[in-house]
Amino acid sequence: MIQRVLALPGTVVLLTLVLSPPSQAQEQWSWPEKTQNIQVLPKEWPGTRLQPVMTGFARTLGVRCAHCHVGEQGQPLSSYDFASDENPNKDRAREMLKMLRMINGQLAKIEPSGDQRVNMWCHTCHNGKPRPMTLGEELSEAYRLHDITTALAKYKDLKENYYGMGSYRFDDMALNDLGYQILKDDVEAAISIFKLSTDEFPESWNVWDSLAEAYMKAGQTQLAIANYRKSLELNPSNTNAANMLKKLQAKNADE
Ligand code: HEC
Ligand code: HEC
Repeated sequence: MIQRVLALPGTVVLLTLVLSPPSQAQEQWSWPEKTQNIQVLPKEWPGTRLQPVMTGFARTLGVRCAHCHVGEQGQPLSSYDFASDENPNKDRAREMLKMLRMINGQLAKIEPSGDQRVNMWCHTCHNGKPRPMTLGEELSEAYRLHDITTALAKYKDLKENYYGMGSYRFDDMALNDLGYQILKDDVEAAISIFKLSTDEFPESWNVWDSLAEAYMKAGQTQLAIANYRKSLELNPSNTNAANMLKKLQAKNADE
């Protein structure tokens, strides 16, 4: 007990020594008094006036400074070159600022319906993500550029990072649309997507209907029947499932 008390001050000193160099380096950076390369925002603004704008950009896009600036995330800001235009996202952001100016100019011509004008800002489109895409568009892009494994991994990744934040709608439609997009070319891949969809949205009659259709295309009659039944159970007025079941059962009886 005594030993532990005696050891305490030493530990604190050691911790301070270990922790202080990186945090001091971080603090050394401060907003520049005079900016060097401002082209769209007011040139006369001191650097400190940029602070709420830049942190706002980062927050509404769900990114860090390095997304638009030359620098490495995790390194002290003093190692960044904020005036450089080498990162193409910086110019993209400038074009976005000009676009917003045009949009808000157009909005000014319209009589506001509430007590105040509803203006647009970066978050209106971006809403926490670097590119304003729907979940379906994200998955479809991952599939076009890579393959189905990447698209499924993308779904899991986006769900892990964005669920509940309102950036994407995690409903049964995104996976369903992707499944149909692939169904023509690759039945097995479509089945794997619809299966994930039934795991994620077991209460949706529509996803069971889709899975059944894919099994039917794959010639797996028993599985198609079982899944159309499941869909019909959840939604007795699903006439498509009822019709398909009749057909499949007749076919099954013939075989
Ligand atoms: C979405 C892109 C984006 C993000 C994220 C972003 N910036 Fe910027 N930043 C810009 C753009 C664009 C300009 C130039 C504006 C102009 O030309 O009017 C700029 C300019 C600056 C400047 C002025 C540089 C100079 O001297 O000309 C500083 C400093 C700066 N940003 C710091 C930051 C910091 C710190 C962060 C992170 C908290 C950050 N920025 C995040 C886009 C971004
Ligand atoms: C009207 C909708 C809209 C608004 C408002 C908007 N953006 Fe965008 N932004 C887009 C779209 C669409 C793209 C994707 C363009 C593409 O690459 O095809 C995009 C792309 C970007 C990119 C490139 C990101 C990447 O990873 O490719 C940056 C940076 C960006 N926006 C910053 C901003 C900032 C900062 C604001 C606010 C000043 C803003 N945007 C406002 C629609 C918008």
